[in-house]
Amino acid sequence: MAQEIIVVHGNNTLTGTVSASGAKNSALKLMAASILARGECVIRNVPLISDIDVMSDVLVELGARVDRNGHAGRDEHVLTIDTSGIDSFETPYELVSKMRASIAVLGPLIGRFGRAFVAMPGGCQIGARKIDMHLRGLEALGVVFSVEHGYLRAETPSGLIGAHIVLDFPSVGATENAMMAAVVAEGETVIANAAREPEIVDLANMLNDMGARVSGAGGSIITIEGVPLESLHPCDHTTVSDRIEAGTFLVGGALTGGPVTVKNIDPSFLRMALAKLREMGCKVEEGPDSITVSRTEPLRPVEIQTLPHPGFPTDLQAQFMLLAACAQGTSVITENVFENRFMFAAELARMGAEISIEDHHSLVRGGRPLQGAPVSSTDLRAGAALVLAGIVADGETRVHKISHIDRGYEDYVGKLRSLGADVSRQLPYRNHRATVRVETED
Ligand code: EPZ
Repeated sequence: MAQEIIVVHGNNTLTGTVSASGAKNSALKLMAASILARGECVIRNVPLISDIDVMSDVLVELGARVDRNGHAGRDEHVLTIDTSGIDSFETPYELVSKMRASIAVLGPLIGRFGRAFVAMPGGCQIGARKIDMHLRGLEALGVVFSVEHGYLRAETPSGLIGAHIVLDFPSVGATENAMMAAVVAEGETVIANAAREPEIVDLANMLNDMGARVSGAGGSIITIEGVPLESLHPCDHTTVSDRIEAGTFLVGGALTGGPVTVKNIDPSFLRMALAKLREMGCKVEEGPDSITVSRTEPLRPVEIQTLPHPGFPTDLQAQFMLLAACAQGTSVITENVFENRFMFAAELARMGAEISIEDHHSLVRGGRPLQGAPVSSTDLRAGAALVLAGIVADGETRVHKISHIDRGYEDYVGKLRSLGADVSRQLPYRNHRATVRVETED
């Protein structure tokens, strides 16, 4: 089956209200955390995206049972995970290579079995995606690693012992893996220079719902009082909303004037992005769990530095580069988190944008109208931004490699159509032949 593409007809506007789905970058880790408790965990507000299916496959491979509908009845956003049958601590390359976020099972497997045998994740389009900080954090807890034919073998000859961990960089994944092992380490663990993303807080809340003792999540210092593994029990947890999905739709409102409202989102998750929208001339109205963006004056240029939370999120960098390309003037966007996350610029340039890249800096000369064109998603955020570009461009845009988008956005086309976009999923050409699906990575 040929891979579908998304076809967008431009010169359009977006107005209306969409609801944010559950956060991909939390739900994947909550699923991994369920490994730590024997029994049935219920995780709600799980987005209907392909990455969740891959993580479900990883858990099933370990021996768990994953039920998409859950005993909660018809809502597909409810996952019931029964970990009683987990009898393996090995994850195959075939699954880890599909989604590098599978590395999130490393900490929980070590917590539950005292060992793990996990395929090493590769790099991806946006960078090398090393895991050295994951390993150093776990080594501080007493884990001994060896590499065997592309697999990581983890062992804990003296068990997991609480430690003082200092991360070189507030890595989201390294913080999560250290947390999920430390909750059953003997004694106290302190993680300094920890990641502060809302998804970290969500994971800490779920671990505490399971009987762990985690405090300080959301700040740079997380303290964990280890508890016996047997004391951890399954829980029923609702995933936080996806701030990056919400930000993507808000950019759509900023681009076309809106008003676009995203509901079921805590505005405090997007402080920096909302500040930048205001700087660019947008009106941003915040409710307790909704955000509305509209604009009546021309977009102003902006300076953006992507940084760990609460700094500007790298996962909104492509979307804001598109905004900058439509602004009156020159913007500077610096990507400090990933070493190669400007590929979107080359695709946007094919639509007429004027962007020059110098190492981690991009200069975006805005104001030239965009023309629809055939383009390719280079990662899921760039793919989502290309569809938005097609909505404001003149003519038709055909976005390829949309499997990237399906990994992280639930019903992206449906939600955009509900806002008035003329977008649809189609097969690329009439006599489509079977093609090998190219699996993508996080
Ligand atoms: C998470 O990736 C997210 N993915 C990413 O979202 C997000 O961009 C990133 O956090 C930053 O917010 C998931 O949660 C599944 P990091 P993660 O560890 O954990 C380097 C999306 O679009 N690094 O904070 O991999 C790393 O290479 C995706 O949804 C090391 O060098 O991010 C990167 O340059 C993309 N060694 C930087 O740190 C390590 O051991 C930040 O990585 C770990 C990370």
